[in-house]
Amino acid sequence: MITARPSVPSQPVRRAGIVGLGMSVPDLVVSNYDLEKRVDTSAEWIRTRTGIQERRIAGDSITTSMLGTQAALNALRDADISSQSVDAIICATTSGDYLWPSTACLIQQGIGANPICAFDVAAACSGFVYALDLGAQYIESGRAETVLVVGADTLTKQLNWEDRSTCVLFGDGAAAVILRSCNPDEGLLATSLGADGGGSELIWIPAGGTKTPISHCVLDKKLNTIQMRGPEVYKFAVKVMGEVAIDALSRCGLTCADVDLLIPHQANIRIIQSAAERMGLCQDRVFINVERYGNTSAASVPIALSEAVKAGRIQHGDIVVLVGFGAGLTWGANVIRWSRDESDCRKTDSTTGGLE
Ligand code: UT7
Repeated sequence: MITARPSVPSQPVRRAGIVGLGMSVPDLVVSNYDLEKRVDTSAEWIRTRTGIQERRIAGDSITTSMLGTQAALNALRDADISSQSVDAIICATTSGDYLWPSTACLIQQGIGANPICAFDVAAACSGFVYALDLGAQYIESGRAETVLVVGADTLTKQLNWEDRSTCVLFGDGAAAVILRSCNPDEGLLATSLGADGGGSELIWIPAGGTKTPISHCVLDKKLNTIQMRGPEVYKFAVKVMGEVAIDALSRCGLTCADVDLLIPHQANIRIIQSAAERMGLCQDRVFINVERYGNTSAASVPIALSEAVKAGRIQHGDIVVLVGFGAGLTWGANVIRWSRDESDCRKTDSTTGGLE
């Protein structure tokens, strides 16, 4: 079941293109070998079952909003525009600094933006794909000239470090893009989004919300940490990734054969390879960096996009498909015809930037 907003090609007056990208990950690298000293696992099991070799971990002093702010500043620098030009901030996250206020508000203050519209989107690992679609609608409708879309998460702070089935999978990070209007035949061409709350208990944090507030019992049972039925999530992911990408492509009259680069959610290399196989895409048309970051949730897709651009894997005119899945259950895909001429962009290091 895939529900989505009406397809984009009803000829919007304007389209939204990405004019700047930036990312930020904590400096602390934790390898599988480090984890096997701490948990009942082996570096080999993690590598062969997930493709992950290391991940970045935010220590106590680094928060989701700090990573998001640094990524946003890097994206603004990459776009060569001032924070004062931003009209709206949308942050995809499910691990904000606080239950409220939103992380987007903290980023607004952190980058020194005007008192503009700022809010969070909670769609877990699909969050960036959802938020990009929303941000594009601000541009397409003419409500905004410049939109900052951030994906930021520090899920390692929500892990039970005694649960080997989850604690080896996640990492922390953030990435951001700046959207502005572009040529009508370029930019975000189509999006397909879906959700199925029937699967809400397949991957979730059962307590800490208003239904089951924090209590001694909750803490004793570690119900305030991520719980997952991994194999069921795996089956869902393999099926939905290909389906939603193909649906989004069909909404703008394209097929898998038109895809120059697939940027999938980086949860597990086996999920990515199965989805790519279902789409008939060979390895050189799929971007993979799960080995270095693990699953960074809402940051996963934009971090991969930032690195793909920096690595020269995306050129002006390319069809790029972003695809995500996650808790909710949620899933989604964006089809983009790349509108920026990368050879014209400053070759600075602004797509990276770590925090200690
Ligand atoms: O953004 C969405 C986030 N979630 C995901 O994407 C998760 C999707 N699921 C997966 O990626 C995979 O299901 C996992 C990587 C989580 C697990 O891989 P699997 O091949 O599905 O393994 P499994 O859960 O079927 O477990 C196989 C065995 C079990 O042992 P037994 O019962 O066969 O003796 C587990 O207890 O592997 C064991 N196991 C581990 N062994 C060593 C589970 N976790 C570990 C571990 N180290 N870390």
